[in-house]
Amino acid sequence: MAEIAISSTFVLLEIVPPLIKKLNLREDVQKEIEILRDWLNSLKAFMEDNYGREGSRMLDDQVEKVRKIAYDIENVIEEFILHSSQYTFHNHLITQKLHNFAHNVRHGFPLVGISKKIASIKEHIDELKSKNAAFFGNNSNQRDRPSSSSSKIMASPLLLDDEMVGYENLKKEFIRHLVDRDNNRLARLAVAGPAGSGKTTLVKNVFWKPRIWGQFDCHAWILVSRNFDLEEIFISMLKQLCFSRKEPYPPMTDALPNAFLEAVIITTSSSDVASICASSSDHTYRLNGLEWLEGLKLFCRNAFPDINGECPEELKNCCVNIVTRCEGLPLAIVAIGRALERKSRLPDDWEIFYNSLEYKIRTDPDLFVIFPEDYSVKRGRLTRLWVAEGFAIGTDGQTAEEVAEDYLNQLIHVNLVHVSKWDFDGRPRNCRVQNLVLNFIIQKCKDEDFASSFSKEKNMIHQSRKIRRLSVHNDFSILPRDTDFGGGVRSMFLLRLLKISAVDLEKNLRTLKLLRILDFQGASLTKFPQDITRLTILKYLNLSDTNIKIIPTSITKLFYLETLDLKRTNVTLLPKEISHLHNLRHLLAYKYNVENYVNFDSAQGVEMLYDEGIGKLTNLQKLSLVKIDEKGQILQVLKKMTRLRKLGLTGLEWKHGTELSASVGLMENLKTLDLCSTTKQEYLQLGDMSYLPQTLERLYLKGLLTEFPASISSLSKLHKIHLKWSKLDYSPLMALQFLPNLIELQLVDCYIGEVLIFEALCFTKLKILVIEELLDVNMIVIQDGAMPDLKQISLRRCPNLMICPLGMHNLTKVEELTLYDMPKELIARIRENSEDRAMVIYIPVIHSFTLKDQSWEFENLSHSFSQ
Ligand SMILES: *[C@@H]1O[C@H](CO)[C@@H](O)[C@H](O)[C@H]1NC(C)=O
Ligand SMILES: *[C@@H]1O[C@H](CO)[C@@H](O)[C@H](O)[C@H]1NC(C)=O
Ligand SMILES: *[C@@H]1O[C@H](CO)[C@@H](O)[C@H](O)[C@H]1NC(C)=O
Ligand SMILES: *[C@@H]1O[C@H](CO)[C@@H](O)[C@H](O)[C@H]1NC(C)=O
Ligand SMILES: *[C@@H]1O[C@H](CO)[C@@H](O)[C@H](O)[C@H]1NC(C)=O
Repeated sequence: MAEIAISSTFVLLEIVPPLIKKLNLREDVQKEIEILRDWLNSLKAFMEDNYGREGSRMLDDQVEKVRKIAYDIENVIEEFILHSSQYTFHNHLITQKLHNFAHNVRHGFPLVGISKKIASIKEHIDELKSKNAAFFGNNSNQRDRPSSSSSKIMASPLLLDDEMVGYENLKKEFIRHLVDRDNNRLARLAVAGPAGSGKTTLVKNVFWKPRIWGQFDCHAWILVSRNFDLEEIFISMLKQLCFSRKEPYPPMTDALPNAFLEAVIITTSSSDVASICASSSDHTYRLNGLEWLEGLKLFCRNAFPDINGECPEELKNCCVNIVTRCEGLPLAIVAIGRALERKSRLPDDWEIFYNSLEYKIRTDPDLFVIFPEDYSVKRGRLTRLWVAEGFAIGTDGQTAEEVAEDYLNQLIHVNLVHVSKWDFDGRPRNCRVQNLVLNFIIQKCKDEDFASSFSKEKNMIHQSRKIRRLSVHNDFSILPRDTDFGGGVRSMFLLRLLKISAVDLEKNLRTLKLLRILDFQGASLTKFPQDITRLTILKYLNLSDTNIKIIPTSITKLFYLETLDLKRTNVTLLPKEISHLHNLRHLLAYKYNVENYVNFDSAQGVEMLYDEGIGKLTNLQKLSLVKIDEKGQILQVLKKMTRLRKLGLTGLEWKHGTELSASVGLMENLKTLDLCSTTKQEYLQLGDMSYLPQTLERLYLKGLLTEFPASISSLSKLHKIHLKWSKLDYSPLMALQFLPNLIELQLVDCYIGEVLIFEALCFTKLKILVIEELLDVNMIVIQDGAMPDLKQISLRRCPNLMICPLGMHNLTKVEELTLYDMPKELIARIRENSEDRAMVIYIPVIHSFTLKDQSWEFENLSHSFSQ
């Protein structure tokens, strides 16, 4: 966490230099900004040097001071960027001189203010340095470290204090294996378990005792991070080995002391490393939480140190309950034990504490600092937020979004993040954090001034001293009227807001000028809050599910905006100023009006006016859904958007085809293409589609087609195809059946023939099949070995399909068959004891829905296995 929090500050190191150049500042101002950068650099080195060594109170104190100073510096630099960007925007409107004057009057001569702030920061740093020469070392300034972005976050173990014990039996066994090792061969021991389970503590407790390491000639303790540097590790090891033998360092020869390697002990939270260890070590210990009796002992030792860890009789019940809630995680047990150490020991007070804990852990939506606890977050949203915060930075080979996705995968890998829903393509869709992990994150966030959240429902407020990330749940008016945000808030999340008053909002937006992230989820807003456009360095604006209809032209002030989410709003037209926002990466604006079925015009896009002179949205990665304008201007502009990964267009006509294919052909990273014609009677002109990039994973086509190009079968990464209203007169399956990675296929009114054949041994990876509105089809044939992996089938509104698909009985992996408005003849044939029953008998869930007077009538056709 420290690394995450701090790395967001250090991103500024990369932003600032080009800015200074661009602004042509007075020399003295330039110098001051540069001094700030240098300080930030040395603070960064300090943080990195001491990362993972938390624990000593003295060091913690220093780290906290450094963090505060770093945040202050960040504020000053951002304030500076803020002023200078207003400055550049207005440049061409009024003469520079006049503007300068007006600007300074309005903002109280910001540069003077900034200088004062810099002077005060300098004082703090000097003080810190003079008091802590030892901590600041002498060389941290000179070491020019590359920005490590934040991949180190997972690497460091959470060190607990030495006195912490637990796992008594395991510990005995561990000692025995270490002491009774075979002296003639290397002893290899491994300890694996999730973060917080006490691996490092266990090993330290056992090994870091003279009686154990005294048996060895020398020893070393090494941390291997994910992006480790072999040389650094070697030197660190050498130093420790020398030290433990009381030899001078550097050693005479730069080699390992001449010793026989006797034992290696590894601790890891990575499941990969653990499995390698398991196959190569003599003994692997898996820590999955303490047996609760052990946990109870550990708890009491921390809660009652003054009475030798003996639990007073009258508190026993309560202790047992608390330990049970901790699910065996030593880290949790110790933290809560310590929290109670200085509390009164009246059973009533403990009862209250336990209830609040129970309540906190179980029901309080505050518990995920930013997202409520029972809130699972979509992968895409999380990665975009991390990018906006600067936690994930793109490299030459990877976009920032891809880097963010890697981080997420690492967190999942070390069991800190739970995947609550997987996509069929094997990527996580929704994620959440486990309860107890969450508690530590919250504590850490408070300690590091990382985030605060407010929620009225539970009438509880987590507030760190200086608010940087603010999350408000349910009701905006609960923010204390006199809340002083100190101008430092970076991100604001307004989640599940039912009530929002324009006055409250305006008032608060005015004080939050350094905001980078603003997220309204479904707030009952009908007007775009004008004050948003004062947030000049905003990067992420999520207005989805609000009733906003008009985006003002002043949006152009949000020059740093990267993400604009207008999904399910009332916006139908974007002002041409949108095209000035050169930093935009994600522009999402679609709305689905679905009643009972998805209809042709269910999906609605926004129209985008275009300012030819200036606009070049060359950084866009996602653009969906845009309605083609009358002149078809957007199609020309698309040629410049070569970085698009997702493109969604509605309102296409035949005549647009040529230009569209020329543009799409330039998009080398395109993964999703979603095209929809103006009306159900209009043809999409796709050409032979040989221009489609090999990267394409999802293809959605809505509209008439004259032919279905065979070249599509060369798109080996395609895993999802929706083919709707194409009314082909031959089966499109021929072109699709050999796609090696196709997982989902939806066919809606795409074929006017009578027989649909899935050929033998085709569609080998298909898992989801939807067949809808094939009006003339009266027979579906599934040949031997087709779709061997199919899990879900849905048949909808095929009025002439009166018999079960032939060969259905071969699809033994199907888990769910759903029928919507299918002929009653078909339903009758698959009921219990009817002629086609045998073909579906193996399917665990068979449901049928029929629309009657605007409501669905349900029939359960599942086989009851108990009969
Ligand atoms: C840094 O090191 C030099 C030489 O090693 C020493 O003279 C100086 O006092 C040190 N400065 C601090 C701040 O420790
Ligand atoms: C905006 O918020 C919604 C929740 O209302 C979320 O589903 C969506 O992913 C967010 N948009 C972006 C671009 O992150
Ligand atoms: C927004 O759209 C909803 C549903 O389409 C409608 O009920 C509402 O009146 C619209 N609001 C505005 C401000 O146009
Ligand atoms: C499909 O069913 C037929 C007839 O019941 C059987 O001979 C054949 O082996 C089955 N094929 C597969 C792949 O299960
Ligand atoms: C449908 O019937 C099956 C078997 O009798 C039963 O197990 C299942 O719970 C039912 N499902 C619903 C949604 O009623």
